[in-house]
Amino acid sequence: MREATSETRAAGEAANPTDGPIGIFDSGFGGLTVARSIIDLLPGESLVYFGDTGRYPYGPRPAEEVRSFAIEIGDYLAGELGCKLVVVACNTAASVALAELEERLGTPVVGVIEPGMRAALKTSGSGRVGVIGTVGTIGSGAYQELAAAVAPDLDVFCAACPGFVEFVERGETDSEQVHVLAERLLAPLKAEAVDTLLLGCTHYPFLARTIGDVMGRDVTLVSSADETAFDVKALIERQGIARTAQSLPSRRWLSSGDVEWFASMGKRLLGPELERAERVELGARGS
Ligand code: DGL
Repeated sequence: MREATSETRAAGEAANPTDGPIGIFDSGFGGLTVARSIIDLLPGESLVYFGDTGRYPYGPRPAEEVRSFAIEIGDYLAGELGCKLVVVACNTAASVALAELEERLGTPVVGVIEPGMRAALKTSGSGRVGVIGTVGTIGSGAYQELAAAVAPDLDVFCAACPGFVEFVERGETDSEQVHVLAERLLAPLKAEAVDTLLLGCTHYPFLARTIGDVMGRDVTLVSSADETAFDVKALIERQGIARTAQSLPSRRWLSSGDVEWFASMGKRLLGPELERAERVELGARGS
């Protein structure tokens, strides 16, 4: 694990690596669903969140490009900011870069795909599970392959939902337009009579009301956020890397896009812990 930099220490961290922050990243606001669960479960831990809002959405981009963004952000969080573990709070990035990040970073890495699938498995009674995600995630086959490996008897029905992420990033989580889009995109899953719908994109919990209305009350919506936070907690305990510093934990919110928007919209979505955002432009750092 690399040493914490002066930038991290300026945020109130001690030089002890176990007191370093948990790094969390996503293409934008979606990973805030995971950050929320981590704050609630591990209130004594510091965290740094990076939302790549300058380059979102990841879903329609080629896998190789998303992979390169994920590596760049992972290197920045683990290397430059001294994060003691990195949470890939983006299904699209995790579906193409998780294994490489695990090998490369020298810090533990936690993804959202396995925890999400585990939560769906626990929830489904009928064994008919729907999974929705970005074009990149569904096209990668990550969920289909995982289901075949861990629950071959499960009937898994996948659907890409292009456009959902853009609605969330615009702060439009409950409009007539997003409802119309959801009706169209979710119709095939309704037809399959799934009893559980796994939200395989960390942005989608912000659309839960719309998605729930469309799917109906008999379908349980499952997100990966809580299960991922439990994985983070278990990993910290297993590795003995819980924060020991007596000072208050620090929370930093970084965005590669418009930081005013990130702070105001982010606060609405995450809650009061997101007070201000800092701009970080990774491409320009030459890393
Ligand atoms: N939150 C990301 C995910 O879980 C959204 C990706 C995007 O920007 O399209 O896949």
